[in-house]
Amino acid sequence: MAGLRGVSMIRIRIEKILSVIALGLAAMGCCSFAAAANIVIYGASGNIGSKVVTEALNRGHHVIGVSRKPESFTVKHENFKAVKGDVTDLASMLEIIAGADAVIMSIRGNGADNSAEETVDNKASLVYIEAFKKLGAKTPRLLQTGNQATLFRNGVQGLNSGKYQEGSAFYGRVKAHQLVLDHYAATPGLKWTVLSPSGTIAAGTRTGKYRVGGDEVLTDASGKESGISQEDFAVAFIDEVEKPKAIGKRIAIGY
Ligand SMILES: NC(=O)c1ccc[n+]([C@@H]2O[C@H](COP(=O)([O-])OP(=O)(O)OC[C@H]3O[C@@H](n4cnc5c(N)ncnc54)[C@H](OP(=O)(O)O)[C@@H]3O)[C@@H](O)[C@H]2O)c1
Repeated sequence: MAGLRGVSMIRIRIEKILSVIALGLAAMGCCSFAAAANIVIYGASGNIGSKVVTEALNRGHHVIGVSRKPESFTVKHENFKAVKGDVTDLASMLEIIAGADAVIMSIRGNGADNSAEETVDNKASLVYIEAFKKLGAKTPRLLQTGNQATLFRNGVQGLNSGKYQEGSAFYGRVKAHQLVLDHYAATPGLKWTVLSPSGTIAAGTRTGKYRVGGDEVLTDASGKESGISQEDFAVAFIDEVEKPKAIGKRIAIGY
């Protein structure tokens, strides 16, 4: 009996020592098994995009933050580079995305009219496809923020639920997210992923936890659409960069 108790005490001590060593190594930034990626982020100055920048940098990646006004960035990090660029300009995009491992777009904007076609999201998707035609297999993987309204609930797409007023700026931006999905789906060979928040997305806390769905809205126990914090949405983006599971797909992200 005494012998058995002795063996189990030794085992517990060894386990404790090993866990202390593992915590120490993790604290020193050691042993992250995901290699550092070079990530271009359009919308790096935005609500969601800025959280993606933080998440990527905190996980050891190199970030090129693109903005029409790069001098406005306040990010101070050795792995962050601010670059001037317009996501609707092919020449500028070709220069910026060359050699990147992944390109993230979390952009927003209407055109002169409120049409979906004139939105920044729609134009950017078409420009990325033009870039793909030029770069072929060298085109970096693309990940883009989508919208809840393109998800379905009980067979009805949010866009057609009567919640969005046709002709409004909001409707144009929301509908653009569907055009984006259609363009990518019609482009064989392009490595794309669209991440749609399943419900409300707002600044909050980073829990590191979220659920991944498909074309349907994710709901909670009471049947309410599951929202997500911008911080956890950013975690989902960088998880997908590090361990691709949804190439050529749209995924819903929520709690
Ligand atoms: N519940 C939902 O489903 C939900 C809710 C909110 C947002 N969203 C989606 O999330 C996306 C991002 O929203 P957000 O609120 O984070 O956006 P935001 O804070 O308004 O930021 C927009 C970003 O777009 C960039 N941008 C605009 N035009 C550009 C251009 N021509 N070239 C380069 N960059 C350009 C801006 O960069 P610069 O000004 O620095 O150039 C800015 O960083 C949108 O597509 C939106 O529809 C979905």
